[in-house]
Amino acid sequence: MSEKKYTASDNRYKDVVSYRHCGKSGLKLPLLSLGLWHNFGDVDSREEAIRMLRHAFDHGITHFDLANNYGTPFGSAERNFGNMMKSDFAPYRDELIISTKAGHEMWPGPYGDGGSRKYLMASIDQSLKRMQLDYVDIFYSHRYDPNTPLEETMGALSDIVKQGKALYVGISKYPEDKAREAYRLLKENGTPCLIYQGKYNMLAREVEYTAFPLAQKNGVGFIGFSPLAQGMLSDKYLNGIPENSRAALSHGFLQKNQITPEVVEKINRLNDIAGKRGQTLAQMALAWCFHQPAVNSVIVGASSAKQLQDNIDSLKNTEFTSEELWIIGEIAG
Ligand SMILES: NC(=O)c1ccc[n+]([C@@H]2O[C@H](COP(=O)([O-])OP(=O)(O)OC[C@H]3O[C@@H](n4cnc5c(N)ncnc54)[C@H](OP(=O)(O)O)[C@@H]3O)[C@@H](O)[C@H]2O)c1
Repeated sequence: MSEKKYTASDNRYKDVVSYRHCGKSGLKLPLLSLGLWHNFGDVDSREEAIRMLRHAFDHGITHFDLANNYGTPFGSAERNFGNMMKSDFAPYRDELIISTKAGHEMWPGPYGDGGSRKYLMASIDQSLKRMQLDYVDIFYSHRYDPNTPLEETMGALSDIVKQGKALYVGISKYPEDKAREAYRLLKENGTPCLIYQGKYNMLAREVEYTAFPLAQKNGVGFIGFSPLAQGMLSDKYLNGIPENSRAALSHGFLQKNQITPEVVEKINRLNDIAGKRGQTLAQMALAWCFHQPAVNSVIVGASSAKQLQDNIDSLKNTEFTSEELWIIGEIAG
């Protein structure tokens, strides 16, 4: 895949990326993690994908987040990542935290979706095969399934750890009452929940009142996804929808109709504040997530290594005045 053999930079841990303990566990995660939901599938540029992974690791980003159905088509992000693991990152496996998930639709029929033991057990085996790995570091239940008893879903997660296919387990997007129950069950099974993965950005703050306090009470870590609201919290959509942006692409999850006049007004006002701080809007949006102590890590997405560097630079200024925080809260609503 890559023409030149990759050797990681000797300076990879001397950069600005720092590491926070994940909840009460011994595992440290980089403040900035990289997600492979978009831009790593078969429809995307392989050259840019490997450039991003190399750039990330060379700058201390040790955590890559995947799921069984990432990429277009489903499974292609894991398969492409597996090829890059083999070609580039195999010597560095012990320096990497790789996560994957199952819970959303993956294959046809009644066993490729939801939270059943049948689905999760088959899915982890498929993921390991696609990624050419012996184990993942974190395996998540990708969403709560109201049609499967929680005991069954959590039992499957615990058994996956006990079988050595994952080191830790996590849950994603669970409602508060179900997360509480999941934490209890996983503890009883002897495989405490490592981490809760939820949407967190300046425009989506619900988890501050739900997931944060519950996770903290249970010693569970929190990792935020879509910190740039899929790119809306950048300078990209200030004046319309550019070609090749996620909102313009037919396989992107951001829909054109989400870029409403209200959103455009908000991001223009936020962009002014970012400018006064000497940051891009994307940098300010990430820095704003990091300033929150309940956040162990933030999973950013990127479509180029250049964007990724812009995002890494957010770590140079993560301090906010109380006035700035107040104005951001007031604008974002
Ligand atoms: N657990 C879950 O259910 C769940 C759900 C969603 C996501 N996730 C995880 O979270 C990760 C991140 O999600 P996300 O991709 O929505 O994150 P995001 O960081 O909010 O959005 C990433 C997109 O923003 C744009 N962007 C990034 N950096 C930029 C910059 N510096 N300047 C301008 N534009 C920039 C790019 O879009 P363009 O393509 O337009 O350039 C990029 O693809 C996923 O990969 C996945 O691992 C998990």
